[in-house]
Amino acid sequence: MNVTDRHGAAAATGRVFQRVIGGELPVAARAKGCTIWDTDGRAYLDAAGGAIVVNVGHGRTSIVEAMARQARAFTYVHGTTFTSEPLESYARAIGPHLPVDDPAIYPVSGGSEAIESCLKLVRSYHLARREPDRTVVIARWGSYHGNSMGALDLSGREPLRKPYEPWLGRFRHVSAAYPYRGGETAAHALADTGELVAELEAAIAEAGPGRVAAFVAEPIVGATLGAVVPPDDYWPAIAEVCRRHGILLVADEVMTGFGRTGRWFGLDHWGVRADVMAAAKGVAGGYFPLGLAVASGNVYETITTGGGFVHGFTYSHSPVGAVVAGEVLRILETENLVEASATKGELLRTLLTERLGGHPNVGEIRGRGLLVGLELVADQATRRPFPRTARLIESVMAHSRADGLLLYHGTGNADGTNGDIVLLGPPFVISDGELARIVEVLGDAVERAAAEASAKLV
Ligand SMILES: Cc1ncc(COP(=O)(O)O)c(C=O)c1O
Repeated sequence: MNVTDRHGAAAATGRVFQRVIGGELPVAARAKGCTIWDTDGRAYLDAAGGAIVVNVGHGRTSIVEAMARQARAFTYVHGTTFTSEPLESYARAIGPHLPVDDPAIYPVSGGSEAIESCLKLVRSYHLARREPDRTVVIARWGSYHGNSMGALDLSGREPLRKPYEPWLGRFRHVSAAYPYRGGETAAHALADTGELVAELEAAIAEAGPGRVAAFVAEPIVGATLGAVVPPDDYWPAIAEVCRRHGILLVADEVMTGFGRTGRWFGLDHWGVRADVMAAAKGVAGGYFPLGLAVASGNVYETITTGGGFVHGFTYSHSPVGAVVAGEVLRILETENLVEASATKGELLRTLLTERLGGHPNVGEIRGRGLLVGLELVADQATRRPFPRTARLIESVMAHSRADGLLLYHGTGNADGTNGDIVLLGPPFVISDGELARIVEVLGDAVERAAAEASAKLV
């Protein structure tokens, strides 16, 4: 049954502007663990946790009960009028896990808001330090930081930028640390840390002395490139450049945070600390729209004792959000789910390599923890992608979905238009049997879709 059937005439006068235009969406009915059921009783294995969000699994009653308890006490107070016990205790509980020294959290409603808040923290910090000319922000190609205007402008994801280009252009971009396509100009990618560092140094020099405010990047690139891990010496080298030039290092941990890559945060793989950080997605595991902008103690003290912070959202500092985040954190800790993400991610990559490693259209299988990417190509030797017109990834998604498997995907990674990636990010509670099922269905879907797309090319 689709939505129109169910609601009949009402749909003709008031309707949902769906995320998918021109398609029929199934109607979700319930979800548990790694499975979502629709109103027709069909089961879908959620291999992407929605959009790499659901880390502790669907249908956790302890989270729902905690949310209800808080909602019964009070659901909303304005952040300029009250703080709340759940929020204060969450800040104390999450602090030791964050890759930020002496952190202060500013809770918002999602990743884009967190990124916007990080940008304003950066600006406010430099204003408080009487360095108003530090206005240049450098981000990277092949990145995604959100869809609000500032976050989109930071993002180096060309298909998403294209329609809004006349409104963008405030921020600068350097190459992605993307070993698989290192040296490809069209991909804006480099593989060598020395070259990446030199490029960043050149961008800083070009901006002029004391002009760069921040460098913003995802520790491991998620949606745009598909779980791309940088060279091992990349992050320590980049952090050193930032510190040397008085540039704030802003880590976008929206996708990589809260255990997704097998460590608490992506930067933990390299022992690097951020000055400012954004988180969302796994912070509340899909149970509440929540994001965090995080300031280091230095940034926080400088702003709060200096110029202040001109900012705010109606729904920031939510007590219900804090309770949800607190319960998600308790589950991650007590069920050792960050460790589970590491070991299950390893198993998933091994199984995928066994099943698809030899397939001529699988360019690379990569990632860390339960953030796993598959890059599909038309030609393995040259890494040439399928043309966008082949709609390869749409076909992989359709075949998988028909067999009850939900994936996340991306396009344009090779040159801004072409390129196909599958991103896997199931809940950390996934069983070995479910991992095997992902690999079996995805393997079949890739084989079928690639054969169809290859046939169209000849
Ligand atoms: C790395 C990264 N940053 C920011 C965002 C934006 O988050 P949201 O969609 O919650 O606004 C995303 C979303 O996918 C993301 O992956």
